[in-house]
Amino acid sequence: MGFETIYNHKPLVKESANARVNLIGEHTDYTGGYVMPTLLGFENTIELARNDEKKFIVFSEHFNEKKIFNDFTKSINNDWSDYIKGCFFVFFNEYKNIKLEHFKICISSNIPLERGISSSSALCVSTLKALNTYFNTQIEKKHLAKLAKKVEHDYIGVSGGIMDQMVSSIGIHGKAFFLNCLNLEYELIDFPSDWKFCLIDSEVQRNLRSSSYNDRFSQLKLAEKELNVEYLGGVELSKFNSDKISSPTVVKRARHVVTENNRVKEAKECLLKDNIYQFGKLMIESHNSYSKDFEASTYDVDEIVKKSIKCGALGARLTGGGFGGFTVSLIEKNKFSDWYKKINKYYPQEKIFEV
Ligand code: GLA
Repeated sequence: MGFETIYNHKPLVKESANARVNLIGEHTDYTGGYVMPTLLGFENTIELARNDEKKFIVFSEHFNEKKIFNDFTKSINNDWSDYIKGCFFVFFNEYKNIKLEHFKICISSNIPLERGISSSSALCVSTLKALNTYFNTQIEKKHLAKLAKKVEHDYIGVSGGIMDQMVSSIGIHGKAFFLNCLNLEYELIDFPSDWKFCLIDSEVQRNLRSSSYNDRFSQLKLAEKELNVEYLGGVELSKFNSDKISSPTVVKRARHVVTENNRVKEAKECLLKDNIYQFGKLMIESHNSYSKDFEASTYDVDEIVKKSIKCGALGARLTGGGFGGFTVSLIEKNKFSDWYKKINKYYPQEKIFEV
């Protein structure tokens, strides 16, 4: 469809941002730890032009719906257009010297929603990129990621970290994005040529707002308080004193994060040394920890992980915020067609996506 079909004239600005798959490092970002996502081909595109009629008009191709608003008040029932309002709200708050203008917007996206591959961050990052281009604000990419996080955190009210916004704003397709979430230093690392990642959709829709994500967030913040540390990410496994934590459930949640950080650091070394077997092993350990200690998996997801490994994947795990969504598998390129034939007997082609 596109902007021109909706509004009968060309847009002034067109910007896109990609979804991501997190290869390893789950719920470690908001505890000052490490993550390693990579960008996916799925993307969200924003086209916009100034609207002289003094109102905002936003059309979403996915929802086939147009929303019109005059201010940035959030809806009561969590509407998709809140993300756009939130971006305007944060942008105009940040750049108070910029005079408010109204826009016509068209959003198009091929990102499967609520599957743990950060469709919402791609939406916010692409919208802020479009505003940046329109107003020529020269926002640095890291700062743009921070503004996108503000939209989700302060405006929408989701207790997420900064992984998704950082990789969507800075990441490069085809490279791993190793990020230290405490100081936001990152490395872009090439994948060895014989590695291949593949996603399988569990079709369990997951909505961060209604899922147990916020519960896990609070449990980890409680662990930090009881351990008397600012961030769990800074706690070495050898110094992790679980006796200080009052609840056995919180011990398990914290143990996932402390062990996961080690796995991410080791996974980076495996990438650099082309050690595919160890990387696969770390993915499996990560999934077990995410499923057993963090209790963020589901029966269907665990089945996909098991079957993918049985069919020849070297590693597989649930990716993203948890409680359903996509799984990611690591396969040796020369064994890929064999793995695909086998896994395709369990899951149809429409559920399998090559990264
Ligand atoms: C969601 C959040 C991220 C991160 C992951 C879990 O995607 O947006 O910040 O916490 O969950 O690793």
